[in-house]
Amino acid sequence: MDSMTFVLFGGTGDLAKRKIYPALYNLFIEQKMPSSFSIIGLGRRGMSHNDFQESVEESIKEFSRGETTNSFKMVEFIESIRYVQFDATNKEDYKKLLKFVGQREQELNIPENRMFYLSVAPEFFDMIALNIKESGLGSTKGWKRMIIEKPFGHDLISARELNEKLSKAFEEEEIYRIDHYLGKPMVQNLGSLAFTNPILQALWNNKYIANIQITASEIVGVEERAGYYDHTGAIKDMFQNHMLQMLMMTAMHLPKEISAKEVANEKTKVMEALRPLQIEDVATHVIRGQYGPGVLNGENVVGYLHEPGIEETSKNDTFIAARLWIDDDFWYGVPFYIRTGKRMKEKSTRIVVEFKNPLKELYGDQIEDTLPNLLVIEINPNEGMSYVLNSRNPANGKTESIKVDYANDNKDVPEAYELLIHDALRGDSTFFAHWKEVELSWEYVQPILDAFKEQLLPLHSYPSGSYGPEAAHSLLREDGFKWWLDE
Ligand code: BG6
Repeated sequence: MDSMTFVLFGGTGDLAKRKIYPALYNLFIEQKMPSSFSIIGLGRRGMSHNDFQESVEESIKEFSRGETTNSFKMVEFIESIRYVQFDATNKEDYKKLLKFVGQREQELNIPENRMFYLSVAPEFFDMIALNIKESGLGSTKGWKRMIIEKPFGHDLISARELNEKLSKAFEEEEIYRIDHYLGKPMVQNLGSLAFTNPILQALWNNKYIANIQITASEIVGVEERAGYYDHTGAIKDMFQNHMLQMLMMTAMHLPKEISAKEVANEKTKVMEALRPLQIEDVATHVIRGQYGPGVLNGENVVGYLHEPGIEETSKNDTFIAARLWIDDDFWYGVPFYIRTGKRMKEKSTRIVVEFKNPLKELYGDQIEDTLPNLLVIEINPNEGMSYVLNSRNPANGKTESIKVDYANDNKDVPEAYELLIHDALRGDSTFFAHWKEVELSWEYVQPILDAFKEQLLPLHSYPSGSYGPEAAHSLLREDGFKWWLDE
């Protein structure tokens, strides 16, 4: 892997402490970092290199999944870190940074490969990218790449504007848009399941599949993020990005070859085949909810409107369920149901594939009433897979459903951020969101946002600790289905 400089904008922020430094450290101890590298954290405060290094060490000790007791390794890693006081709005600071980066490159005798990681508020994305270009930071003899956090725009127009601006400073191949769901090992595994299992590949279409359900439920509420969340809601916080990315990963067809370009192509095709929603149809296919008070893990919790920082009149959504259709030869007629919400009964990200029962059509009442076959892919917090089949119980002669189960109990799996940063360092963008996918996601979501704005659909209340509003259950019942695994 190429030696490089990792420049972290937002180097004293929460994400940097919790995720980015621990991820870099774990990559380092697993020998997945280049042989020579320099990490430069940027922040507004004045701080010495030493103080900064100490604070990074503390974050690693607190948040790293791996062992942090090897003091020799820790010293070696920490020694690669420097701090630069930096104001993203001040052009002079970019010049100062360029000088510093250049000095470090010379000291370490490493080529001008520069990774810029933007872990800052979204309003700074375009300004930073432009200044990287104008200051000369981006004019390297080696490669330059930019990792950028979500949200990528807040609607279709703003996302397009942002992309337009970023593309003046970076080529699309140089932009790595993080969607941390694409870093979850089981989401990454979705592709491999189809690539490596002919048994699944053969069934992965509308002849055998009745519907697919993608759930990401959370126990946590808005936490301390009222300022961000109250104008974002579940639709922009989760649905537009994570949920649609999981949909693409589930529904994409085998690419010609396994490369970032071909995978992106196949994902784009899924989005292009997605039946667009007209604003007047949104209410038929989308359910919007907001959590009320309730009981979670035996404790009373307040409703959304009584959370700190939330206006009592807020009409923000904390829950979304939707029915989507992919109008291509493989998926025509198969509903995809997506739901995500906060303050739900359990933390679970999972995909349930419900199969049709052609035998039932053939034999009708001659066969007992059996459950449909289900393939359950558990993404988070448990990782695993199970297949629900029917089998005759020799004890009583009855047909019963049985579960063939696989649970990954190896707790030593890399974190999403480790996998993604490692890929970006290697120049592999397979598990990042490419512009076309992001644009098509916003195109799909825009009529939903418009319908919300014009109040064309109700905002259902659901008790904290439940599986969401009743309307989300009716959505499936209308089609003769139900959400599986809700207790
Ligand atoms: C983030 C959202 O992107 O994903 C949060 O902003 C949400 O609101 C989080 O809680 C969920 O991620 P995970 O990995 O815990 O499922």
